[in-house]
Amino acid sequence: MKGVILAGGTGSRLQPMTKITNKHLLPVGPYPMIYWSIMKLKEAGIHEILLITHEEYMSSFQKLLEDGAELGVSLRYEIQPTASGISAGLAHAKDFADRDKFILLLGDNIFEDSLLPFIQSFQQQKNGARVLIKEVKDPERFGVAKLNETDQCINSIIEKPTTFISNYIVTGIYMYGPEVFDYIQELSPSDRGELEITDVNNIYIQESILKYDRLPGWWIDAGTHESLFMANQLVNKQLARKGRKNL
Ligand code: G1P
Repeated sequence: MKGVILAGGTGSRLQPMTKITNKHLLPVGPYPMIYWSIMKLKEAGIHEILLITHEEYMSSFQKLLEDGAELGVSLRYEIQPTASGISAGLAHAKDFADRDKFILLLGDNIFEDSLLPFIQSFQQQKNGARVLIKEVKDPERFGVAKLNETDQCINSIIEKPTTFISNYIVTGIYMYGPEVFDYIQELSPSDRGELEITDVNNIYIQESILKYDRLPGWWIDAGTHESLFMANQLVNKQLARKGRKNL
């Protein structure tokens, strides 16, 4: 299976640093944030990776990562012309995915668990998509899942709800089949002017082909100053526990 990493967005919640660089190039532990998504894919046996970002900092990513060989992966790059949403960015992975199943990571999601067991479950899944959910204290920042615990399915996902739905949120770790590119074609921009990944996932729910797993370890969307600080603490603690200064 191949991997896609989205490293776009404006990083508005991480200003002023994101006036001069891309959020995914900011440090998390001893590395730029983008390293962690690449290492998580590699750890799960995924070596063919597409990185999608905006033109502005593309040369910085390419200077840093080149063809991926130093990190033991094979990297390709695609430009997302504008910050028009996760689904709009993902549309640029169509040729790379080449009608196969693939895993999509949002590059600002930093987490503890290996992706391997979830990828294995998805490989065995006949069709559809698979998402990873996590219980959090601040669900209003995310896509929130309304769970049907009896049937082990998600009834719906609400993006950044203004009223309380549940504490379970859909993380930026998604596994899709080739139909995802057709579903993206059906979308129209949300109130924040973006093609939402939540709208894609809700199409899978309507088709009754969205499965989910719970992420047991810690998980952070490092898109704010507080969460970036926390990601640094957790990553450094994890490295110290392993008795290492770096990967
Ligand atoms: C995005 C998704 C949201 C998801 C989150 C995970 O939010 O839209 O559904 O829960 O990533 O990190 P955004 O980063 O666009 O605010």
